[in-house]
Amino acid sequence: MSKVSILGTGCHLPERVIPNSYFEGIVDTSDEWIVSRSGIRERRMVLPGQAMSDLATPAAKKALEMAGVAPGELDLIVVGTSTADMLSPSCACMVQHQLGAKRAVAFDVNAACPGFIYGMAVAMRFIADGTYRRALVVGGEIVSQRIDYSDRATCVLFGDGAGAVVLGAQEGPAQGHILSTHIHSDGDLWELLYVPGGGSRIPPSHEMVDQRLGVVRMQGQEVFKHAVRALGEVAEEALAANGISSGQVDLFIPHQANLRIMEAVAKRLGIPLEKVVVTVHKYGNTSAATIPTALDEAVRDGRVKRGDLVLVASFGAGFTWGSALFRF
Ligand code: UT7
Repeated sequence: MSKVSILGTGCHLPERVIPNSYFEGIVDTSDEWIVSRSGIRERRMVLPGQAMSDLATPAAKKALEMAGVAPGELDLIVVGTSTADMLSPSCACMVQHQLGAKRAVAFDVNAACPGFIYGMAVAMRFIADGTYRRALVVGGEIVSQRIDYSDRATCVLFGDGAGAVVLGAQEGPAQGHILSTHIHSDGDLWELLYVPGGGSRIPPSHEMVDQRLGVVRMQGQEVFKHAVRALGEVAEEALAANGISSGQVDLFIPHQANLRIMEAVAKRLGIPLEKVVVTVHKYGNTSAATIPTALDEAVRDGRVKRGDLVLVASFGAGFTWGSALFRF
């Protein structure tokens, strides 16, 4: 089995910035409540007409440029998203088309917030067993189109974005490698966080829209408790599997849903907050995009250097959760 390296990272966030004050005008909320309960100050939102691949493709181009890999060299494209451009075909096929990555096999992974980690877990194995040499993994979401803007408990939390990595077989000691990925699911808990309408159970219709069924429904407090537990457990699982202590981790990138969740998980793991990447204050919860966008920012601003040990963990609807531990 080959070791698998992260050759490049990239991200793309929509230009439109939505501050908390916007929500003060449409629901009974306040900047103070949103900041104190979630840590979010603003988020990015696409313009009408923009679709998932319009964020995923520019993120992919930046990752390919950093990696020094041409689109034609890609063997595999995996996009972690639950908000693809269309119900069919996949967002990954749209990205393939926009990049001109003729040779690649392209498909989506629908695993909500950990979709990027699920995508990494899949792509990494294809490279490790020698099936493919170069893979693009994107995590992206346009959550702003799946929000009930009259529900103050959810509308203030989410944002749009995309992040990407290019993976390849390790070519020498100068390159780091992925030590492990761990992914889990518990479908018994689907009703705590879901979008009821728009699929085959409740297909799109006027009624579906009128009854606001095509939007996120979440039991926030319950999700919070499960997120803290599962993120802590799956991060510990990654460390234990590799015989690594939390003190050896150079940077921890948890799912960016709520600053209080991140603080609780970091405390449980004994990782100081200086080593935790936080972007939730400026992007909100971008679901599958939180990990790759935060990783790309940390790489580009020098917080992650070649050889650093990075732990990432995410949790979301399904429930699904997962972690990855890698030397960059
Ligand atoms: O990405 C997938 C994973 N998602 C998550 O991890 C999200 C997990 N959940 C959370 O982050 C938090 O539960 C929330 C940020 C969603 C909510 O924070 P909370 O501290 O759990 O608040 P709560 O739901 O217990 O609500 C407390 C109060 C309620 O009022 P009463 O019943 O005490 O009178 C809510 O109605 O806050 C009220 N409330 C709000 N007030 C002002 C709920 N949303 C708002 C709001 N502005 N936007």
